[in-house]
Parts: sequence; C-alpha cells; structure tokens
Amino acid sequence: MKIRSMEELCEELKGKRLSASEGGGAKAVAKQKEKGKGTARERIARLLDPGSFVEVDEFVTHRCTNFGLDKTKPLGDGVVTGWGTIDGRKVFVFSQDFTVLGGSLGEKHADKICKTMDMALEMGCPVIGINDSGGARIQEAVDSLNGYGKIFFRNTISSGVIPQMSVIMGPTAGGAVYSPALTDFVFMVNGTGIMHITGPAVIRAVTGEDVTSEELGGAKTHNTKSGNAHFIAKSEEECFDQIRKVLSYLPSNNLDDAPLKETKDSVDRMDLALRDIVPTNPNKGYDVKSVLALVLDDGEFTEVQPDWAQNIITGYGRVGGRSIGIIANQAKIMAGCLDIDASDKASRFIRHCDAFNLPIVTFVDVPGYLPGVTQEHNGIIRHGAKLLYAYSEATVPLVTVILRKAYGGAYLAMSSKALGADLVLAWPQSEIAVMGAEGAANIVFKKEIDASSDPTATRLEKIDEYRDAFATPYVAAERGLVDRVILPEETRKELWLALCGMESKRVGRPGKKHGVIPH
Ligand code: HXC
Repeated sequence: MKIRSMEELCEELKGKRLSASEGGGAKAVAKQKEKGKGTARERIARLLDPGSFVEVDEFVTHRCTNFGLDKTKPLGDGVVTGWGTIDGRKVFVFSQDFTVLGGSLGEKHADKICKTMDMALEMGCPVIGINDSGGARIQEAVDSLNGYGKIFFRNTISSGVIPQMSVIMGPTAGGAVYSPALTDFVFMVNGTGIMHITGPAVIRAVTGEDVTSEELGGAKTHNTKSGNAHFIAKSEEECFDQIRKVLSYLPSNNLDDAPLKETKDSVDRMDLALRDIVPTNPNKGYDVKSVLALVLDDGEFTEVQPDWAQNIITGYGRVGGRSIGIIANQAKIMAGCLDIDASDKASRFIRHCDAFNLPIVTFVDVPGYLPGVTQEHNGIIRHGAKLLYAYSEATVPLVTVILRKAYGGAYLAMSSKALGADLVLAWPQSEIAVMGAEGAANIVFKKEIDASSDPTATRLEKIDEYRDAFATPYVAAERGLVDRVILPEETRKELWLALCGMESKRVGRPGKKHGVIPH
C-alpha cells in the first residue's frame, strides 16, 4: 500500500483548486473576454467586499454519461457558489460560468444553486444569482428540466422572506428566464444580457417575424417595453454598484430591520423651493422627482424601473436615515394617470416593500385611470385592481402626501384612507374630488350652461364655483379623510413625524392561506 505524504496530498488539493479556478480554460476565457464579459469568479470578486467570498462545492461534477459527456467533467460544473459580504452584510451568491459547457444547467449545477438558495433562506440573507448560460444542458435532458423546477420552487418559497436579485450578464433562454422573473429584481447589462422564452430562429419559423436577439430580449427591451427587468447598466461594474445600492435600503430578511444610514440632513429642514415645483394650475406638468429631491435625505432617490411605465415612479429613499419605499404619480408623463403598466409596476413594488417592512410613502397627483379601448380590452380592470389589493393588503406604515389632483377611483387607488393609509397629508392646492372642476361643472351645471345667453361665460363661472367649493383639501379634511393639511416646505418634517408616529404599527388580518390576487 502506498501511503502518500502530506506534501503530496496538499499539492493534489492545490492542483484541484487551480483546475476549478480555471473554469473552461484559457481559450474559453479569452472568448468570454472578447464579448466584454467577466468570468464567473471575477464577477463575484467585484460584487462582494474584497476577500470575503467563501466558495462551496468547487469540486462538484456532473454524473451524466450521455453523448460522451462523461469524458468532460469540469470541476464546479459550470457554476460558482458560496457566500460573502456586501458592505459588511452577509449575502449568498451563485455565478454561472459560461466558459464551462456554456454555463448550461444540469442536475448537479442546479443542485449547487439550490444548496446556495437553501442556505440563504436558512441564514436569512439575500441571494444574488448571476446568470450567463446556454440554458438547460441538452445532454442531461429531463434532469436539467427538473433542476430548473427545483430552483423555481425555492424562488417562490423564499419570495418575501429574503431579498432575491437576478443579474443577467449573458444569455438566459427558455424556461430559465422564469427564475429571474420570480425574484425581487432583475438587473441587466446592456449589450450582453439577453432574456427570451424562444429565440429569433424559433420565432422566425413559427410566426415569420424577423427580429434580432438584442431587439427581442436585450436589456433595453426588457427595461423599456416588457417591464421584465428593473435596472439596466452600461457595464458589469455599474450593475454591481446598482445591486449594492439597492441592498443598502433593504433588511437581510423579512424579520430584520433595514440598516440605518447616518445623515447630516436635518429632519427639520424646510425647503421653500417646494412651493414653486407643483403648479397650482392642475393642467400643468412638472417633474415629481424634483419634489423627492427636496424632501428625502440628501436629495437621494434610487429609482426602480426608471425606464418603464414612467407615468408612475417607484423607488427607495430615506428620511432621518430610515429606508422607505416611494410611489409617486409622475405628472409630466401622461399627466400621471394610471394605466395597466403603472398599476402592475406600483402594485408589485408595494408588495415588495410590505414584505420587507419598509414604510411606504405615496405622493399623489393623479387625474384618474387612463381611458381607452386598448386599456379596457387589455384588462385595466384586473390590472388596476392590483393596486387596490396591494395597498389594502399592506400592513407597513402607509403615509400619503397629496400634492395636487386626486380624482375618482385613482384617488382611492393611490393609498387613500379607505384602503388603509395611516396618515394622509395634503398640500394646500390639493383637489380631492370625483373629477376635475371642468368636467364636473359640465355635468352638474349642464342645464344652467345650456340655458345661458352666454354659455362660455356661465361655464367658466360654474367651473370656478365648483373649484372653490370642492377642489380643495378641506372637504376631505372635514371628514377626516385628510389627516393634516400642510405647507409644502413642511413635508420632510411631517414625513419624519409621521414615520416616527407609525413605526410601532401592528395590524392583524384574518387567518387564511393567502388571498387570490387579481392578475
Ligand atoms: C449544452 C451547451 C448549451 C446547452 C451552449 N452549450 N448551450 N451545452 N447544453 N444548452 C455549449 C456549446 O455547445 C459550446 O460548447 C459552449 O457551450 C459555448 O457555446 P457557443 O455556442 O460556442 O457560444 P455562443 O456562440 O456564444 O452562443 C451562445 C448561445 C448558444 C446563444 C447560448 O450556445 C446556444 O444557442 N445554445 C443553446 C441554447 C438553447 O437552446 N438552450 C436550451 C434552451 S431551452 P463547446 O464544447 O463547443 O465549447 C431551456 C429549457 C429550460 O433552457 C426549461 C426550464 C423549465
């Protein structure tokens, strides 16, 4: 019997480590670089705090013997997994290695991802998945498909318990796209990240449509048209910055508190410039982000899905160092009205904030739901209902700031008192009514206007009459539907007081398995 020396055994281990770290070898790595992509390990190293990565399962190999695959058994099986820290906070991570069998997902590759997800859930930490893969490993057939299924299951079980981030830094094709779709956020790198169910060739064969891969499923497409992605980055570096930023607002799990961020920005700061941003004329547009910039800590607002459904704004900010989720109608796009995409975008973000205990502050300036046959036929009723559902279901503190218009059903949908808002603040020019003064006067005073010798003058007179009587915050305030009417410059301080006042909020709901959310 040959007993090997310690020296020999250690050299063997070092050799294996080296082999695992080389991925698919120099040629494949060079090809990866030519495409402007980092390797799986480089990506993890750039994402995490330096030197914090602890790798797990680096020697795992597949056990497939089909189509000669048994002759190639790369260590790690095409995915690098483990944990490390971001800003000192623990996160779990997996990073597909396209240089190994095209990053394709077989049985053991999937097992490694599942193990990472299981550890993240048990330790109560975020999980970040870097996707760069040819999809289901063709040689492993149903074992690959089963692997995807196990990942989808874990994505769903972890949803709302730990933050899950998907990073698309290469191809993500076929059913593989459903794991990212089940996570909180999808980050895509422009030019290299691709997601689609079926590629251009299949589409050409089935429907005759001609489309490039980039047009079909590139980062711009998913960030502007489909709404499948939440962030677009010019480079992998920028993408990692975005992930770190988003995580800085979030707790590690649904039972933890979000980290506090020290600020020198006083919560008492009053900014008179707020008076000049929102025109008192209800028909004039403005950028609601200018309001956020003057209200939030250090003017810092991190927008989520900035390029899709721009008539509503979603994102994170802080007041007094505390993380909050923000929903705001964007008056300069489609007058800030609610349509199908805006309802989908806002309702999902509300549920995300509620799951992770972030108070939600809603800035309202909304003329209504968007009228139109296309909207009706594409289901504005069920999509719009999601917004009602999400606010009603939320148990985190809900603070509403009515900036100007709050009309009709959209008034209710935008975090109204009736749906559970804890505190509704309103600026003095707020108009809380069934509809705008012009429309209302046309209906209510139709007879007088028609009978008048000067219908135009009478109409204008009646519009003024209606506006004076109803287009104010005071009718709602008289009924307790607005809790406080505030000066614009008091907004930051009022939000701080509201958030402090509501932080101990505890509400119960009837026991049930889960609701049946409109879809
Ligand atoms: C096995 C794969 C693979 C796969 C790529 N490779 N995809 N091996 N299974 N799915 C291998 C290639 O054979 C090649 O091996 C190496 O990875 C690099 O691939 P290239 O084609 O040279 O790279 P590139 O030119 O950059 O093209 C990338 C690509 C292409 C566009 C992703 O590889 C491709 O179309 N792959 C197949 C995609 C696909 O149809 N996947 C199944 C989707 S269906 P060598 O040895 O030559 O280096 C699916 C269902 C999931 O995923 C369902 C879940 C419910």
